Amino acid sequence: MYDNAVAQLVARKYKEEPLKDFASVNSNTKLSDLNLNWRESELPERKRTKHVHRLHPYLGKFIPQLAEVFLRKYQPHLVYDPFCGCGTTLVEANVLGIDSIGTDISQFNVLLSKVKTEEYDLKLAEGELHNILKRSHDLGRKSLSNKKINKVINTENEYIKAWFAKDTQKDLLAYLSLIKDYTYQDLLRIVLSRSARSARLVTHFDLDFPKKPQTEPYFCYKHGRTCRPVNEAYKFLYRYTLDTIERIKEFAKIRTKSSVAVYHADSRQVELPKDIDLVFTSPPYVGLIDYHEQHKYAYELLGLKNNETREIGPAKNGKSEQARKDYIKGINEVILHTRDYMVKDAVIAIVVCDKFGLYNPEAVGFKSIGRVERHVNRRTGRRESAFYESILIWRKA
Ligand SMILES: C[S@@+](CC[C@H](N)C(=O)[O-])C[C@H]1O[C@@H](n2cnc3c(N)ncnc32)[C@H](O)[C@@H]1O
Repeated sequence: MYDNAVAQLVARKYKEEPLKDFASVNSNTKLSDLNLNWRESELPERKRTKHVHRLHPYLGKFIPQLAEVFLRKYQPHLVYDPFCGCGTTLVEANVLGIDSIGTDISQFNVLLSKVKTEEYDLKLAEGELHNILKRSHDLGRKSLSNKKINKVINTENEYIKAWFAKDTQKDLLAYLSLIKDYTYQDLLRIVLSRSARSARLVTHFDLDFPKKPQTEPYFCYKHGRTCRPVNEAYKFLYRYTLDTIERIKEFAKIRTKSSVAVYHADSRQVELPKDIDLVFTSPPYVGLIDYHEQHKYAYELLGLKNNETREIGPAKNGKSEQARKDYIKGINEVILHTRDYMVKDAVIAIVVCDKFGLYNPEAVGFKSIGRVERHVNRRTGRRESAFYESILIWRKA
């Protein structure tokens, strides 16, 4: 449980210099010496969103440097993330030459994790990205008198009809219809999804949780003037094509041959190998985010399977006492299940904001060996205010 004394301690540490030389962390580094209270100036957004980490927006990811620090400290042979989200742990593990496995219940998150960690033939990927962009542009703007084309760029999907302007639908659906012709289909799906996200009928100041489509001009609080809803997707498809090429090229320079496996499953039940020696994860926080809902546009456009009833601690269930009980039951089931696949003395490091004091190592067959507190001073979207986060470190008992 977070009390004032701990907050004061962290606040004192916050004034001191945080860790900057990540490569200096090794198995001898003491947990008590880790100062992870980075300010914006010390770990700016551009470093937190380097290479593939910004291939697509995802609300609720941890910063890659956090994963890097614990991977360097514990130097596992195989790291597992049971709530892998958009794949931060897996990307960082790969860079350090560590084999990794991730599981997530959201099919979109699994898709994103796979696309980030994939090894590409860069020439082929670049060619395909440019080729589909051109073909979809031509197709989306062809004469509507052609019946075959008309069928491709029209939809009966109510969500797509409501949340995208007519010409935006054409751009997106034309691109979608062509994906089947290429090798790197998932990579193209991510460019399409990112473009769709930017091209929704939403206000600029509420991209994360829009309540209803914005079809008329509106006063924009972000830009301090009247803004108009977007009425095309092509400009985003173009922009994100170039950005994606840059990012996968950048990652290819540091990508290693270490293996990465990503499972679309409930981590209470997934089958795993028995030699996991580190678990590094950030579970959902109770009642904070609906992980399927945040990418609703992608589910609708790409026809992904919705498993939201299996999400642990979704925002829609709130933070009531009952919600908290259900949440920790779900989390404990995941940890107990994962424990069966961990070697003797293996470590689990869990990034949490446990203000309700729900996490108890003894209840799930572990022993606490440390705890690092972190002052999170800057987040995007809704969570702008400062808060504290803990990294709980437990050993298999
Ligand atoms: C805090 S996010 C993890 C973010 C991740 N650390 C990253 O940087 O991308 C929690 C993740 O848990 C997933 N999740 C929730 N319930 C799950 C379950 N029963 N099985 C597997 N994954 C689940 C959500 O879909 C979400 O992606």
